Amino acid sequence: MSFQVPAIDPARLPALLQAMPKAELHMHIEGSLEPEMIFALAERNGVKLAYDSVEALRRAYAFTDLQSFLDIYYAGASVLLKEQDFYDMARAYLDRAVADNVVRTEMFFDPQTHTDRGVPIDVVINGLHRACVDAEREQGISAALILCFLRHLSEDAAIATFKAALPHKDKFIGVGLDSSEVGHPPEKFARVFAMAREEGLHLVAHAGEEGPPEYIWSALDVLHVERIDHGVQSVRDPQLMQRLAKDRIALTVCPLSNEKLCVFPTLADHNIKQLLEAGLVATVNSDDPAYFGGYMNTNFTRLFAEVPGLTAQHAYQLAFNSIYASFASVGDKGRWVRRLDEAFEEAAAAA
Ligand code: ADE
Ligand code: ZN
Repeated sequence: MSFQVPAIDPARLPALLQAMPKAELHMHIEGSLEPEMIFALAERNGVKLAYDSVEALRRAYAFTDLQSFLDIYYAGASVLLKEQDFYDMARAYLDRAVADNVVRTEMFFDPQTHTDRGVPIDVVINGLHRACVDAEREQGISAALILCFLRHLSEDAAIATFKAALPHKDKFIGVGLDSSEVGHPPEKFARVFAMAREEGLHLVAHAGEEGPPEYIWSALDVLHVERIDHGVQSVRDPQLMQRLAKDRIALTVCPLSNEKLCVFPTLADHNIKQLLEAGLVATVNSDDPAYFGGYMNTNFTRLFAEVPGLTAQHAYQLAFNSIYASFASVGDKGRWVRRLDEAFEEAAAAA
């Protein structure tokens, strides 16, 4: 990062947080299903829901930990049956991302959540991929897919999923690991990650959301991931912090998710400033925006409003990190960083 971040009037920071170009590297497309869309798809597909109304469903979004969220999240995804459902869900998220000046998004999807209900994997991947292609053409956002394995299921099930997805290898850029973390360490998935590596795919994994620093070490050293999703528990291990900084391993941090799932007592207690100031490549992401109270710009504005001491310098670093840590081409990254620099120069020049 060679850009000298100019002095910005703090009053201008909220607008700058919104306007600055940014990449989203950690969001689950099934977590973008708003209650209204869950009800609309349930009606369209004749699926019976356990809640009587949008309001009743929203009221159930009071989570105490990751598992309490996942139970509701998997139930919400049960309305997705047809290729058009996956397409519509992804286009709705991509519209929100464009509105938040997200220039690049790498979206997770969980094929097993759907194939285990009898939805063919081709339906899932084709619907999501068509949405990426159309949004890129019509709205200029760069969008890619990362296939996640559900870690509460077996590695054999992950391998079967991976093999079924391989004919679509041109439609996703990497693999990841999500769902219930504690008790399902990364090394459980060593073989399937080795297969994905052989295929030249990018590798990421959730680690250190609720799980211990050891899970981050094994994601790095056994799975050979390029980024860590969440990773906020790394502060418990100074040697791990040094390793992450030295190897410039990005952490895809999700502030509103961490608040909603009680990873930190309040948003003000979040450790994002500590991560940045230790030289880690931290980024801000929305995780499951329909469930956690906001998309990218809400994550940025609430974080900067509530965590003491965050400045324009931190904002620039977070946006820069997100572009740097994305799996986009070097040419695209250069173009987006120039736009980022311009956004900061304009905000500094504004009287
Ligand atoms: N799946 C969707 N959101 C998740 C999260 N925050 N952690 C693990 N798995 C997830
Ligand atoms: Zn996640």
